[in-house]
Parts: sequence; structure tokens; C-alpha cells
Amino acid sequence: MKIFLDTANLDELKKAASWGIVDGVTTNPSLIAKEGIKIEEQVARICDIIDGDISAEVVATEAKAMIVEGTALAKIHKNIVVKLPLTRDGIQAAAEFSKEGIRTNVTLCFSPAQALLAAKAGAYIISPFVGRLEDIAQLGMELIESICTIYGNYGYTTQVLAASLRSPLHVAQAAEIGADIGTMPFKTLDMMFNHPLTDKGLETFLKDYAKAFAEKK
Ligand code: E4P
Repeated sequence: MKIFLDTANLDELKKAASWGIVDGVTTNPSLIAKEGIKIEEQVARICDIIDGDISAEVVATEAKAMIVEGTALAKIHKNIVVKLPLTRDGIQAAAEFSKEGIRTNVTLCFSPAQALLAAKAGAYIISPFVGRLEDIAQLGMELIESICTIYGNYGYTTQVLAASLRSPLHVAQAAEIGADIGTMPFKTLDMMFNHPLTDKGLETFLKDYAKAFAEKK
């Protein structure tokens, strides 16, 4: 499974990039707003840090305006994927972009039927939100499973990006189901490293080694 970071923060991206395991980045208008820098400028900076798909979301709500905005975003860098909301206008824009060979990430997907529409429109990525479904007491992973089954049934090439992943368990479950991509905040990625037995084991290894050689002196 490809690992994407769900952030527009450059320090977080640089730190994660140094670990050599980040395949791409997703942003959304809220994440861009948090950094206080216009999307065009911020995604260009992100493209300089991570060499992979970088999703940049439109804020227009009508198909025509989404196409104008998305076309401009796609021109910023070859790795930009135009992110569109799963609305009638968003799907219409995705179908247009698909004809033009511009890659799209259809976001805010909360049902298998919505995901089917995105695949029909030729989306490059579909983003079902796990965490936000769980916030309203629905099973987020069941959505990932249904979409993977539907896409598999018909050979749709739209990649399933498990979004709104909030814990290492979410990431592992998405990978087990077979999601193509998992996107997560820096905090979740950082937590994936942690295991008390790793810390304890390393401490013992280092102590044993130091003791053995200290004794021989
Ligand atoms: C995906 O592209 C979204 O930006 C993101 O995963 C939303 O996550 P949240 O529900 O934790 O805000």
C-alpha cells in the first residue's frame, strides 16, 4: 500500500520524507488554510519536497469553474492530482478531466454508490473517509472493503485511497483489505513506528553489548 501524508505542513513533510517511506501527499482546503499560504504557492513547495502524487483541491463548486481552477492547479507541476468533491458538478468535472488526461482524486466519498460514480467518471483516485464515518458511529473499513470489491468486480483502475485514517490500526486494516493508498496525518505515521517490545529489545541489545566489551577491558 502506498503511504501518503495528509498535510500541507512543510516541516512535517520534510521530516517524513527523510524516513524514505512517503509516496505522496493529500491536501484539502482546511489543511492549506492552516498554513496560511495560497494553494498554488504551497503545493509548489510540497512538490519540491515529495516526489509523488500531490493532491490539490479546488474550492469552486460549479463544474465549469472547477475545470478552470483544476486546469490551473494541474499546470503547477506534473505530479499534481486535481482533487474534486463528490458532487454532481465534481463528477462532471472529473469526467471532463479524464477525457483530457488530467488525473483526479474524487474526495468526500462516504458510500459505495458514490465510489461507483467516481470510477465511471474515470477518476484516478477515490477517497473514502474512514475516520469521519466512525465519528458518526458507522463502520469506515466496511466502506473500503465494499469499494475494493466493486472495483475488482468490474476491473476499474481508479485507485482506492483510504482517507481520514487516524491510527496505526486504521492503516493496517486498510492495507489488509487491499486499499491502494492510505493517507494519514503526520502523527499517525509517526505512531506507526512505536512498539514497546522494540524499545525494550533494543535497550537490552545495547546494554548486553556495552557490558560484554566493558568487561573485556
Ligand atoms: C483526505 O484527502 C482528507 O484530506 C483527509 O484524510 C481528511 O481527514 P480528517 O477526517 O482526519 O480531517
